Amino acid sequence: MATIVGGIAVSHVPAIGGAIARKLQQDPYWKPFFDGFPPVRDWVQQMRPDVVVVFYNDHGLNFFLDKQPTFAVGAAPQYVNSDEGWGIPSLPPFRGDQDLSWHLINELVHRDFDLTTCQEMLVDHAFTLPMKLLWPQDGPAPVRTVPICINTVQHPLPSARRCLALGEAVGKAIEAWDSDARVLMLGTGGLSHQLDGERAGFINKDFDLRFVQSLGADPQWATQYSIEELVELTGTQGVELLMWLAMRGALPGKVRERSFHYHIPISNTAAGLLVLENH
Ligand code: DHB
Ligand code: FE
Repeated sequence: MATIVGGIAVSHVPAIGGAIARKLQQDPYWKPFFDGFPPVRDWVQQMRPDVVVVFYNDHGLNFFLDKQPTFAVGAAPQYVNSDEGWGIPSLPPFRGDQDLSWHLINELVHRDFDLTTCQEMLVDHAFTLPMKLLWPQDGPAPVRTVPICINTVQHPLPSARRCLALGEAVGKAIEAWDSDARVLMLGTGGLSHQLDGERAGFINKDFDLRFVQSLGADPQWATQYSIEELVELTGTQGVELLMWLAMRGALPGKVRERSFHYHIPISNTAAGLLVLENH
């Protein structure tokens, strides 16, 4: 049976792609952000994952407002990145794991999740940049991937309770996968940020820290809030923290926070990087 080796949650901001392309990791603005990653990469090396299951939200590259699945699972041999208009380089394709994709799709539908299945799926900065931060070397990341997209861009959004339940179902399915693969869970988005409207620039450090603290022992904590309350507390895009909750839900063991790095701001975002161990 497959093994879930742990989970990582990390913010995604397009400007990170520009900073990587221009080698600005030591620049005073960027250094406090990039300095969070070497210890996390060391941990990933130790965990030796074969596959990464990525909870993320598409921002209009693969799904636009005319077609917006609540949950979509990739089932493609590879995932292609493409220009989103941010002025950052597109990254080379990421390798899929179709065996795990179809296993997850079967198990999730069996557990009453209504999914969109995608045999072709463009992946945007929310997928590519966290992967690049974890595997910064030239060439393709040395892991297979399964993207799971959760709608956080067009209302109505799935509740925190539903996203946690999705993660739990994904975790159970992976544990039942007939494979000796080692699987890393990744959630990307958040933490608090708002890109537009009267509250553009909004950040809520107190809430971010309380939320992250809850993830280890009490992941139900965030489910007390409705989507509207989460938007009010974290900003219109801060609600991407749903990905952190789904990632956490997938960890079946005794979960312990290994490290947390938090830096305000990167672009408009309170940037977080969390590693959860799964024993
Ligand atoms: C920013 C943050 C995001 O989550 C995103 O998807 C795009 C931009 C930002 O802070 O610039
Ligand atoms: Fe985003």
